[in-house]
Amino acid sequence: MPPILSISRLTKRYASGLAALDGVDLEIDKGEIFALLGPNGAGKTTLINIVCGIVTRTSGEVTLDGQDIERGFRMARTKIGLVPQELTTDAFETVIATVTFSRGLFGRPPAPAIIEKILRDLSLWEKRNDKIMTLSGGMKRRVMIAKALAHEPEVLFLDEPTAGVDVALRRDMWNLVRGLRERGVTIILTTHYIEEAQEMADRIGIISKGKLLLAEDKATLMKKLGKRALTLSLQEPMSELPEALSAWPLTIKSGGYELEYTYDANDGQAGVPALLRRVAELGIGFRDLATRQSSLEDIFVNLVSASTESEART
Ligand SMILES: Nc1ncnc2c1ncn2[C@@H]1O[C@H](COP(=O)(O)OP(=O)(O)OP(=O)(O)O)[C@@H](O)[C@H]1O
Ligand SMILES: [Mg+2]
Repeated sequence: MPPILSISRLTKRYASGLAALDGVDLEIDKGEIFALLGPNGAGKTTLINIVCGIVTRTSGEVTLDGQDIERGFRMARTKIGLVPQELTTDAFETVIATVTFSRGLFGRPPAPAIIEKILRDLSLWEKRNDKIMTLSGGMKRRVMIAKALAHEPEVLFLDEPTAGVDVALRRDMWNLVRGLRERGVTIILTTHYIEEAQEMADRIGIISKGKLLLAEDKATLMKKLGKRALTLSLQEPMSELPEALSAWPLTIKSGGYELEYTYDANDGQAGVPALLRRVAELGIGFRDLATRQSSLEDIFVNLVSASTESEART
């Protein structure tokens, strides 16, 4: 199946001369949840805004369902829903009027049942007759989401959907996104929360300084770049590493009560059994042993700092 969204060699130079996007290639399959992760100013909003027709590209190609987004902008507009990073709402309107109107704007026939379902899913039904200006920030964000869904888009962009929202809304959001995916909606979201990308996405892209550093299946990404850490909880505290263990990169933690060994999860020769044998030979007693996969956060920090360092060298 051809990708629903295809971006190639996309660049954006703002009037200031700043290259907000620098040759981005990305393909999104229908029905996937793609999370775009990156520090402030990386170009996430610029990328989304170009696809949504709010910002014009400098060069490159963007096609939605096989059609160029500028030439086929009418088609693109109906197929796309956007929840922007900045809240913009019609303060004096009621919730239900705003959401209903939004559907009409896209030329869709009225569908009160669909609007009701959206408002119920977002816990907004009780507030449907309230004026938007009387709602809390989190509720306003829910209204933005409801507006973006009102015309039943095939591709939904969520730009920092859970920035500054409480745990309950975040959970609602995640459930909503999963529900939409089950109905075949493609979802592209940006986030600063690594746990959010890890929790929700099928695929993760990392962007820094306008360059897409990688876009990879979540599981592959974790495996490919993932390290594992082995922690031994010691019976007796250790003040310094015995010479006999110098072959392993070990660190002493928790005031000497833990010994940590970090190794490549894919390296069959990582030497864990040998390490444990050596530890036993030296008579170092341990109460417990745990291994954990390094998190996406470790991967992210490593990649972004590596890209910043290589920039500093050039
Ligand atoms: N309208 C504009 N005019 C000039 N420069 C802009 C404009 N909009 C964004 N930029 C710049 O382009 C770069 C990318 O901005 P963008 O908003 O896409 O980043 P972002 O990844 O969404 O960041 P954040 O995580 O803070 O939302 C930044 O350096 C920003 O200052
Ligand atoms: Mg942004």
